[in-house]
Amino acid sequence: MDKHKVKRQRIDRICEGIRSPILNGPMPTRPLVALLDGRDCTVEMPILKDVATVAFCDAQSTQEIHEKVLNEAVGALMYHTISLSREDLEKFKALRIIIRIGSGYDNIDIKSAAELGIAVCNIPSSSVEETADSTLCHILNLYRRVTWLHQAMREGNRACSVEQIREVAGGAARIRGETLGIIGLGRVGQAVALRAKAFGFNVIFYDPYLPDGVERSLGLQRMVTLQDLLMHSDCITLHCSLNEHNHHLINDFTIKQMRQGCFLVNTARGGLVDEKAIAQALKEGRIRGAALDVHELEPFSFSQGPLKDVPNLICTPHTAWYSEQASIESREEAAKEIRRAISGPIPDALRNCVNKEYLLAAAQWSGMEPAASHGELNGAAGYRSVFPPGMVGVTPPVLPASSVDGLVASSIPHMTHTPPPGQTSKSESDREISTDQ
Ligand SMILES: NC(=O)c1ccc[n+]([C@@H]2O[C@H](COP(=O)([O-])OP(=O)(O)OC[C@H]3O[C@@H](n4cnc5c(N)ncnc54)[C@H](O)[C@@H]3O)[C@@H](O)[C@H]2O)c1
Repeated sequence: MDKHKVKRQRIDRICEGIRSPILNGPMPTRPLVALLDGRDCTVEMPILKDVATVAFCDAQSTQEIHEKVLNEAVGALMYHTISLSREDLEKFKALRIIIRIGSGYDNIDIKSAAELGIAVCNIPSSSVEETADSTLCHILNLYRRVTWLHQAMREGNRACSVEQIREVAGGAARIRGETLGIIGLGRVGQAVALRAKAFGFNVIFYDPYLPDGVERSLGLQRMVTLQDLLMHSDCITLHCSLNEHNHHLINDFTIKQMRQGCFLVNTARGGLVDEKAIAQALKEGRIRGAALDVHELEPFSFSQGPLKDVPNLICTPHTAWYSEQASIESREEAAKEIRRAISGPIPDALRNCVNKEYLLAAAQWSGMEPAASHGELNGAAGYRSVFPPGMVGVTPPVLPASSVDGLVASSIPHMTHTPPPGQTSKSESDREISTDQ
């Protein structure tokens, strides 16, 4: 039998196993992977160029995603500026894998994704240290008032006498002996605990999902209830994932259970905190100071919403995770996860599949053989066996050049293709075009 026909049949068989057959047109012979809410694929391209065509959409919502990506993309990479509800996920006709470039995946309906046969992965490790360091910066800022002192100096305030220092630095407090309460002792929470101890904090935590004994291995004190943690903390820092059970975990009721004049830090997720309640508590001095990297509505602006004109508040724009190194590492990891999806069984070959249980359950309910759900993404292994590694770079792109230009001109998506060896990557030229737009 003709080798292309064999390959086509294999792809069809695999895709049937993962999702119902795609009705609108044949599958591309080369998987299309799209970065949904960004435009820079320069880190991902070298890792994926021999196995996939990479596009970028730079979209804020699925309405802005080009039909070609909706119909043909089998892999999606995304940050947190776009959300994928069930309705959004249903618009993708060929999607098999989504990678959240970052740790939080509360902007994706992972259960619906599994029911639609789409694996979701996150990249949980790259920015643990940055996020913990940023959290400590916020905590130290609240205790040592660096931001406000800097602001006072900028405004021309010169503190010479001890009375002036007292006035300008009023509220600065000693850290040693204070109790730091951590809500959510996962990767970031633990990194914060280790750092906080070095500053002299007595560290307590609340995390009902962790097994007994964690407190002993880390030398921390465990609180059995949230109320216990709130009552015993001088400074509370949030490090739990946002899920359907803990939206507005910090609200008017729980704020009343906190110590009078405690500090609050949130570098986890904005939805964990009721901003109206915090604003009121800050105005009344029930909370002495708060530092928030994440907000209910992002991008955050001081000029609107309940936190407008609130005193003793430090805000940063969801950047706790960021460093150049962390950003590059997480993008590399994301691209490698896509590669694993292309060349290995889904979800078993994936390192950080966050909806694996739902996927397997969905496969069981649909009467699928577990093995059938382990197909390789779009039959790319077959593709590689047809073209030896050295050859894949010179295969013609899936899309004719004219359609590529058309897509770039309409700005979404921007398609990037494998360059022949020694030639400039198409992604570079595409990027230049789109940047000018
Ligand atoms: N601001 C940023 O730039 C940034 C960067 C990285 C992570 N994050 C966020 O920080 C949070 C922690 O990240 P991580 O990588 O440590 O996640 P993780 O999954 O390793 O840890 C989360 C922990 O929270 C616990 N938890 C869940 N619900 C809880 C609840 N109601 N009460 C107490 N504990 C609860 C879980 O058991 C888990 O141990 C996440 O929300 C993530 O999205 C933000």
